[in-house]
Order: sequence, then structure tokens, then C-alpha cells
Amino acid sequence: MDKRNKIMKNIFITTPIYYVNSEPHIGSTYTTLMADIINKFNKLNLKNTRFLTGTDEHGQKIQQSAKKAGIKEQDFVDSIASIFKDSADYMKFEYDDFIRTTEARHIKFVQDIWQKLVKNDWLYKGNYKGWYCISDEAFYTEDDLIKQDDGSFKTSLGKGVEWKEEESYFFRLSEFQKILLDLYKNTDFIKPESRKNEIIAFVGGNNIKEVESGNFVKDFLKDLSVSRNNFTWGIKIPCDCNGKNLLEDFKTWKKDIKNEEQHIIYVWLDALFNYQSALDDVDKFNDFWKNAEVIHLVGKDILRFHTVYWPAFLIAVEYSRNELQNLTIDDILKKNILPKNVFAHGWWTNEGKKISKSLGNAINTKSEIEWLITEYSIPHNVAIDYLKYCLATDTQFGNDGDYSRSRFIEKINAELVNNIGNLIQRVLSMIYKNLNGEINCENFIKIDNIKSELEEKTINIFDFQSYKNLILSISNDANDYMEKTAPWNLKKEGKIEELKEILYNEVENIRKIVILLQPICPYISSKVLEFLNINNKNFESIYNSDYLIKGLTIKEPVGFFPRLQNKK
Ligand code: MSP
Repeated sequence: MDKRNKIMKNIFITTPIYYVNSEPHIGSTYTTLMADIINKFNKLNLKNTRFLTGTDEHGQKIQQSAKKAGIKEQDFVDSIASIFKDSADYMKFEYDDFIRTTEARHIKFVQDIWQKLVKNDWLYKGNYKGWYCISDEAFYTEDDLIKQDDGSFKTSLGKGVEWKEEESYFFRLSEFQKILLDLYKNTDFIKPESRKNEIIAFVGGNNIKEVESGNFVKDFLKDLSVSRNNFTWGIKIPCDCNGKNLLEDFKTWKKDIKNEEQHIIYVWLDALFNYQSALDDVDKFNDFWKNAEVIHLVGKDILRFHTVYWPAFLIAVEYSRNELQNLTIDDILKKNILPKNVFAHGWWTNEGKKISKSLGNAINTKSEIEWLITEYSIPHNVAIDYLKYCLATDTQFGNDGDYSRSRFIEKINAELVNNIGNLIQRVLSMIYKNLNGEINCENFIKIDNIKSELEEKTINIFDFQSYKNLILSISNDANDYMEKTAPWNLKKEGKIEELKEILYNEVENIRKIVILLQPICPYISSKVLEFLNINNKNFESIYNSDYLIKGLTIKEPVGFFPRLQNKK
């Protein structure tokens, strides 16, 4: 399917950078969680990975929020960015870098990009006339909007828009139609597959058949306004279209620069380049962009920015307008300047209702964890793992999901506590009580070959439901094996060798289960792995008999998966 079928060892995983106009909630936690899982998953598959998250701190929306709070912009963004960082740490997400768009490394990088776009002849000055939605920081045409009874317009999600007429720099996006449609057609750039059509329609292909017949709709994609002049909270353009330098230093206009020349860079052009500004030295850039598979995780609402604007910007930085005319998508793909995938996940509703500011029903992640801890008297780290498990495996990745406390509690008890937890507890207690805690492989090493199934499931890193089902099926089989062989009778009958063998096989099943469960429930898995003195925790070790548990004496097992039962 994807013409770029070369498998790379290095993987760069990113989340969108979050707007700091409101605090983190379950939706933003979800994107970071899935990126964290994909990152851990790849590490266990022995890839070199880098995981980036951060905050998006410029633009009119943020400036308005700071004003409303009565705080200076920089102080405002500092305080909310640190809440985002704390929240990622609280959830124990293991990111390698946290980028903020107000950092000097980012500002300077984006100013360099602006200069390259000017040099490559991709920018011109014009007049923007049209609708702008501050909440989305996006431009809309009247066709995109819904007319209200009072004559005003709203976006399809009910957000207000404003009419704008201002001088602005434009990016020649309209010249990218063919190359973008070829990109979608020849690669798995847009994931899941089901989202391709909406982007193709936006770019002007209308449907795949038209794209396949090469019958593109001319002039469908409009040039994009990429600068603003009527507010100040953003990155200053370093030069005009003639290359005239406008800045004293990266934060200050030269003295003689007139107000109408003082444009700031459109917040999406600024924000998207966080994915590269964070790779802030040559080695990092080579390892995790040029020679890596780049995977961007985004919510479905921002897919358009990442699959239309972003590849166009990347191509425009690399090639001049002249050069591009003679290039095909194959030439561009060979250079590996584009991300491998942009994966769009669905949205969460809260107990069936759309989450919105006006309903005030956003779910604060930290409060949910705290609720689990107090309601069910479970340890903090366990509560985090339980919530991660529910968010990650409840819906098919890519589809919308509904957050429901009662359903999640049932799910945890059924899948984790009664199935996996019960297996672990029964097996380890029997070993402790009947075999003096001794686990010994002696002659009965059996290793099922689950390699092919595992490889199939783990290669498609976006299919977490099948992955979870694989884990549960190993656990189901292990529970069945226990029922069938009824080892509790063997001790009475004096059949100690048989008892040892059955329990040993079960410990091996547990080893597989917890190794696989690590990306989703890292804390509980690590506790079981520690308990069983298992040091090789990568996926390869599951089906390699060198890593079987050879001999070990265990202590009395503790409940690794506490049941969620209301305190009476
Ligand atoms: N700042 C931009 C992204 C720039 S990336 C170069 C932005 N920020 S956001 O804070 O509004 O959204 C960040 C992510 O949170 C998006 O991927 C969005 O889809 C996700 N979610 C926000 N609410 C959500 C739900 N209710 N459910 C699931 N995810 C949701 O967009």
C-alpha cells in the first residue's frame, strides 16, 4: 500500500501541542496516552524511539484568555504550560522532550522557516477577506459554515466566526493540489484509511475515483493566509517578501519598522513546526526525522492541518517553487522529508454527551484518578494503570468513544481483575503454599509458538483492540488450562511432578501476559515482572526460550490487580 515500505529502526512519535487556554482534560490525556503506549510498544519491539509532546502558546485565542485572566501573556502561558507538564508527569507518561512554542529554540526555528519560504518563492503579500474562527484558529469559506436564523454563521461544531479583512502574507497552497493527492494515493500518510476521503474531498479530489483517473479539480485548494497584523501575541516575521530584515533580534522589531509591516506568523504555521524545532541539534534531526519513521497522533478535528498544510509546508521548505514543477511524488518520497503517518483518533463523549465548555462537562483526568483512589481504596499508581487500560482499549483506535464510569468499572473487574489478576493470584498462591514458593523449569520447558500471532498484532501498532484481545485470550486459555488440569487435586494425590509442571507452564503464561501488558499498564506489569525476577522484558523475549524463568523462590504474592468494590 505504502510506496515507502522501507522499515526503519528509528521512530519519532508526537502528540499535538496543546493550547494553553484551558487545563488538560480527558481528551488531551487520551492523545498523550496513546502516543505513550505507541512509544513503549515500539521500544519493546527494540526500536529506537523519541517521544515529543508540548504546548501551543501563541495566537489570538491565548492572548484573549490571558487578557480575561488579567495576566501578562507570558505569565499566563507559563502557568498553564506547567499544569500540562505536571499532568503528563502525574500520568507517568515517558516523553523525551516537552516543547513550548514560546521557547527561543522554537521561535528562531520558525523564523528560519519563514526565511526559507520567502527564498523559495512560496509567500506573497495580499489581502485576506473571509471568515476566521478564533477558537479553532482557522479560516473558513462560507461553504464550510452553517447559517444561523439571525443571519450569522457558525462552524459545523457550533463555534462562532468573525469576518476579517486585512493585509496578510499568503502561502501558495493552491499549487500543492496534485502533489498532495498523489501523496494520499501512494502512501499510508493518512490513518486510519477511513479518514482519507474527507481530506481528499477538501483538497479537491472529491472522491478516490477522480483522483485515480487523475481528474483533479482545478483551483479548489485556496492559498493560505499565514500572517496576522491585528494582534501581537505570536512569532514576529523576520523579513518581508523581498527579504528585507525587520528584526533587531528575534523578539524585537527594528526601530523604523511601521505598524503595518509588523506581522506575526499564523499560529498553525508556527505550531506545526514544533515537530522539527524540538529536534534541536543535527544528530537528533538526522536520527529522528531524516532517518526515522515519524508518526503524528492527532484528534480528528485537526487532521486537515496535519495532512494538508503540514506536508505542503515541509515540501515548500525543501524545494523552491521552480524546482517543484519538475518533481513527482516519488522524487519527494525518496528524500524522506515527510512523516510516515498522521493518525487521527476519535473524540470522547461524557456519558453520551458531547464534551463542551458550555455544558461544563469536561472530565478532568486528575480528578478521575483521585475519585478511583478514594472510592475504591486502591493505590495511586494502580488507579492510573486502570484508567489507561480503559481509555486505550475501550474503543477501536480511530473511532469515537464514550466515557462512562460504571462501564469502565465493570470492564476493569471483568478483564483485568477476574481474568488476568485472578490467574496470577491463583497460580502464585499455589506455588507459594504447595511448592514452598519454588518455581523450577527442570525438564518441562514448553513454549508455545505465539510468535507469528504476536508479530501480526504488534506490527499493526494502531490496532490496540486486537492487541488487548490477544492478551486476554492468552489469559483465558491459561484459566481454562487451570480448570482442566485442576492442580489443587494433585498435591493431595501426591503427584508433585505433575503439579510443578502445570504451575510452571502457568508462570510462563503469566510472563507472556505481563510483558505484553507493559505499554498499557506499566506500573502493575512492572510489579509482577519484579516479583518474578524477570529482567528481559522486550517482546522478543516472549518467544525466545533463553529467557524462560529457570528457577526462583517467590514470596507470598500480594494482590496485583485489586478489585473495584465500593466500601460498605
Ligand atoms: N494546538 C492545537 C494543535 C497543534 S499541533 C501542531 C490543538 N490543541 S487542542 O488543545 O485544542 O487539542 C489537542 C488535542 O486534544 C487534539 O488532538 C484534540 O483532538 C484532542 N481533544 C480535545 N478534546 C477531545 C475530546 N473530547 N476527545 C478526544 N480528544 C480531544 O488543537
